[in-house]
Amino acid sequence: MNELLNDATARALTYLDGLDSRSVAPSAEALAGLSELGGPWAEQGARVEDILAKLDRLGSPATMASAGPRYFGFVTGGSLPVALAANWLAGAWDQNAFSTTSSPLGAALETVSLDWLRQIFGFPKDAGGAFVTGATMANFTALAAARHAVLARAGWDVEQDGLFGAPPIMVLVGDEGHAAMLKAVRMLGLGEGRVRRLAVDDQGAILADALPAIDGPTILCLQAGNVNSGAFDPAQALIPPAQQAGAWVHVDGAFGIWAKAAPNRADLAVGYEGADSLAVDAHKWLNVPYDSGITLVREPSYLRAAMSISAAYLPEAGVREPYDYTPECSRRMRGTEIWAALASLGQSGLADLIETCCRHASMLAEGLTAAGFEVLNLVRLNQVMVSFGDDERTDQVIAGLQADGGAWCGGTHWHGKAAMRISFSSHATTDTDVDKTLAAILRIARSNTGL
Ligand SMILES: Cc1ncc(COP(=O)(O)O)c(C=O)c1O
Repeated sequence: MNELLNDATARALTYLDGLDSRSVAPSAEALAGLSELGGPWAEQGARVEDILAKLDRLGSPATMASAGPRYFGFVTGGSLPVALAANWLAGAWDQNAFSTTSSPLGAALETVSLDWLRQIFGFPKDAGGAFVTGATMANFTALAAARHAVLARAGWDVEQDGLFGAPPIMVLVGDEGHAAMLKAVRMLGLGEGRVRRLAVDDQGAILADALPAIDGPTILCLQAGNVNSGAFDPAQALIPPAQQAGAWVHVDGAFGIWAKAAPNRADLAVGYEGADSLAVDAHKWLNVPYDSGITLVREPSYLRAAMSISAAYLPEAGVREPYDYTPECSRRMRGTEIWAALASLGQSGLADLIETCCRHASMLAEGLTAAGFEVLNLVRLNQVMVSFGDDERTDQVIAGLQADGGAWCGGTHWHGKAAMRISFSSHATTDTDVDKTLAAILRIARSNTGL
């Protein structure tokens, strides 16, 4: 065991040391090498040290260097060193975070982390919380609580009687709501086709006057941080009237709601603390390893009603049983890395992490604009979208950058136009990395566009 784990540590350290100098995307040769992982399943197992060596030889070069400083695809956080170290320790502990009995430590780490998370996002001290795999499941978990609550108010017990014959629920989502939110709606049997889409502005935020008349069971889903533009739906304009009309207001804050932790960005997220539920990722902007998402629900009994496996939805006196709040029973101990990240950053460190990413986004956007390229969004958070002319050209620049390997950005579509999307979400990115990335993008774009 010792030799194997020391070997794994040495290999991991070599890998991490090489992140800055390697191509961000894996080479074609490295990807071709993955075929060696297959073949017939052997009758006799191989030596463990050989397996690890093979995994490193074939696997490490075939990874996307998303833990490094110049990966800007999707919205991808790096891993803080302390969060990665805590993750290794948690792997060794192999705890089942199902209950206070299966892992008193797991339950304690969740309880402490939840206190800090409620504080960051402005939720009440007794709000319910669940640690899940990511924002998709966090949306699912929160919306299960919402489904319970709005139907219970209409006299229907959805956990007992299901959705057959239940009063219909009106689900409201902005026209730019994330696909993962709609998937959560689908998984809960609420029907994506029945969702009523609300009109949005040019940044993708729901219009302040877009709320329809609300009558009967209703769930309003807001978004704090559009995956393309970083825009926030107007919480202050939408949450109070929706709640007064009896709606449940849920927020998909996968990455954007972390703006609350940074004093200079917190104005973007004002009002969201009034929501009934929140979904947020830790593997994005908190920079903990995959996979890690969090659900918060203002009134914990609704979350327990939707998720508990005990007959009564009441908590045992003073004890928070994790299994009462999550879709899963057996689970890995996600509270570990979240606790370690929050403890090591403290309030000022988290504010710095968020602020630095936003500053990097502005730096890059200014450089692109100064060079004559069109930045398509208002850069107020960490997301930048840029067009290099027509769609074909933009796609060529994206492909060129990915092949160049100096940085990695993906593509998206915005208002019918192809765009490169650049997301700043990692502690590992420095000002020098932003300069290098800008230089690489400009070099490739200029050779394509002649600008
Ligand atoms: C707004 C929003 N919601 C949900 C998701 C899905 O998150 P996850 O992949 O962690 O499930 C994302 C991912 O980028 C997102 O930006």
